[in-house]
Amino acid sequence: MTVLTLQYPVHTLDGHELLPAGVALTGAVLAEMVVEGQKKTFADVSLLGYGTTRRDLAAYVREGNYRTILGDEADYAALLALMEKIRLPVPVLESLDHFKNNDTYTYRHVLMVFALSSTIARRMMRSFSDILQEASAGPLHDIGKICVPMEILKKATFLRRSERMYLEHHTMAGYVLLSYYLGNFGGIAPAVALDHHERGDGSGYPRGIALRGRLVEIVAACDVYDALISPRPYRQSSFDNRSALEEITRMAEQGKISWEIVRLLVALNRKDRPPPEECAVSLEKRGKSPDGNLYGVILDDEPEGSTPAR
Ligand SMILES: [Fe+2]
Ligand SMILES: [Fe+2]
Repeated sequence: MTVLTLQYPVHTLDGHELLPAGVALTGAVLAEMVVEGQKKTFADVSLLGYGTTRRDLAAYVREGNYRTILGDEADYAALLALMEKIRLPVPVLESLDHFKNNDTYTYRHVLMVFALSSTIARRMMRSFSDILQEASAGPLHDIGKICVPMEILKKATFLRRSERMYLEHHTMAGYVLLSYYLGNFGGIAPAVALDHHERGDGSGYPRGIALRGRLVEIVAACDVYDALISPRPYRQSSFDNRSALEEITRMAEQGKISWEIVRLLVALNRKDRPPPEECAVSLEKRGKSPDGNLYGVILDDEPEGSTPAR
């Protein structure tokens, strides 16, 4: 496995530096850090019972097409029953407060990726422990964003290349933070944090490896879909649902994300809930992408004023 090197430091919310910039994430470095974390005791608390999570989730799932995707009352009750079982260390849950207070886009996004990925997992997986692991990893996938400056996270114009690099740091930072708080750097939640921006064709980051593994693939696909249909600081409006489904279909066609999961997302968007294998997906251009969408538009740092490149 490629050994990654941190480009920026990883620190906790209260400013404790776990690892400095320039450190290679070797097994020995991570093991030493995990042992340090194990000397502290982080109380586990219910995700649903924490702060306003239950109320906020209930409000978000009634918005837009989430109401269709997350189904009827029985489906929602099953989702809540699953969520009731998730307990996470307090500092991990405090990251939700951090986003709620400072960056509501990210707050809403992590809760919605949790809801979407749990819904997909319940339909794709037989083992309850797999479903629970998937559900637990969903709300944590972007925790590394606590190590990215707010002005970059919330920037409403082009990102400069250096800012884009800092943003991409959230994958490694999330991996380090979750390894520390969960006391294990080989677990599924740290792996999801590290790999949820990898793609099936190797075009993602931070390692550029081929995205493999059902648990990570579910979060990766739900992450893209939610980012398209949700409000974002860098564009005037969200993708309409049809354009978003076409966008993820195109990504499946290019081998970037899983066909099976894309079909499920398409099926969940139909009120009649057809079996995913019978669900026709097409690339016909029926929807319309939003105007002024700056996602993926990078501006070079040098020279000043160079042309934006995708
Ligand atoms: Fe992310
Ligand atoms: Fe995300």
